[in-house]
Amino acid sequence: MDLYLKGKTALVTGASKGIGRAIAKELAAEGVKVFATGRNLDSLNSLYSEIIANGGHAPVVFAQDLLAPDAPAKIASAALSALGHIDILVNNAGQSQPADVAGPEEPWNISMALDFERPRQLTQALIPHFMARKQGTILNLTSTYELRSLNVSAVAKAALAMWAKQLSAELGKYGIRVNCLQPGLIDTDNIRPYFPGNEGQKYAETEIPLQHFGEVQDMADMAVFLVSPRAKYITGTVSIVDGGGRRSAF
Ligand SMILES: NC(=O)c1ccc[n+]([C@@H]2O[C@H](COP(=O)([O-])OP(=O)(O)OC[C@H]3O[C@@H](n4cnc5c(N)ncnc54)[C@H](OP(=O)(O)O)[C@@H]3O)[C@@H](O)[C@H]2O)c1
Repeated sequence: MDLYLKGKTALVTGASKGIGRAIAKELAAEGVKVFATGRNLDSLNSLYSEIIANGGHAPVVFAQDLLAPDAPAKIASAALSALGHIDILVNNAGQSQPADVAGPEEPWNISMALDFERPRQLTQALIPHFMARKQGTILNLTSTYELRSLNVSAVAKAALAMWAKQLSAELGKYGIRVNCLQPGLIDTDNIRPYFPGNEGQKYAETEIPLQHFGEVQDMADMAVFLVSPRAKYITGTVSIVDGGGRRSAF
C-alpha cells in the first residue's frame, strides 16, 4: 500500500533510540526527509548512517536536551530552517518516571516537563506554520492508563492525550490532524530495567494476550500510517498497540 508519504518532511523527537528511532527509520524508508532529535549525538549519527545505508533520504540530526526551557523554540527553528517546511511532527521523546507516593517534587517536575510541557510547547511553536499551510499532522506517543503504581510519565501522558484531543477539535478546520499512539509494553531501554531476567516473559504470559512484549517496529508501522495521508479522516484518536494488554474495552 502506498502511504503517499514520499517527499514529505517530519520532525521526530527522541529519535536516537527505541520507538522514535524506529519511526524515523520507517518514515525515511517511505521517502520522508526526517529531522531527528535527541540528546545522544553518537546515536543520532548512527541513525543517519543507517538511514543512508537503507537508501533513505539523508536525515538532519540535531542534539538537544528537550528539558532545556528553550529547547522547543530551538528545535522548531532548526527544523524549519533545515527542512524548509514541516508536514509531520512526532512528539516521541519521553522517559518512564516511577515516583514515591509521598516523594519529592523533582521527578514530578522533570517528567511533567519532558512528557507534557515540552511536546506541547514544541507543537505550539509549529502551529502557526501548520495553520499558514493549512496542513500538518501531529502524533504524540502516550502511555498506558492502567498502572497500579505511581509513574509520573504516565500522568503527564494522560495530560498530553487530553490536550491532543482538545487541540484536534480546534485545528481540524485548518486541515491539521492530531492523534496519540499508546504503547503497551514495547521492548526498549525505557522499560527493560523494570523486568530483569525472565520477569518480562512471566509478566507477558499472564498479562498480555499475545504473550510477549511488542517490538519497536510494531509501533513504527502504526505511526507511519497515522501520519500518512492514508489516515486523512483520523484525528482526535488514541491508537493502542499493546498486544491486547489493555483490560478495558473502551
Ligand atoms: N517502551 C514502552 O513500553 C513504552 C511504554 C509507555 C510509553 N512509552 C513512551 O514511548 C516513547 C518512546 O519510548 P521508548 O520506549 O522508545 O524509550 P527509549 O528507548 O528510552 O527512548 C527514549 C527517547 O527519548 C529521548 N529522550 C529522553 N529524555 C530526553 C531529553 N531529556 N531530551 C531529549 N530527548 C530525550 C531519548 O534520547 P537520548 O537518550 O538521545 O536523549 C530517546 O531517543 C516515550 O515517550 C515513552 O514514554 C514507551
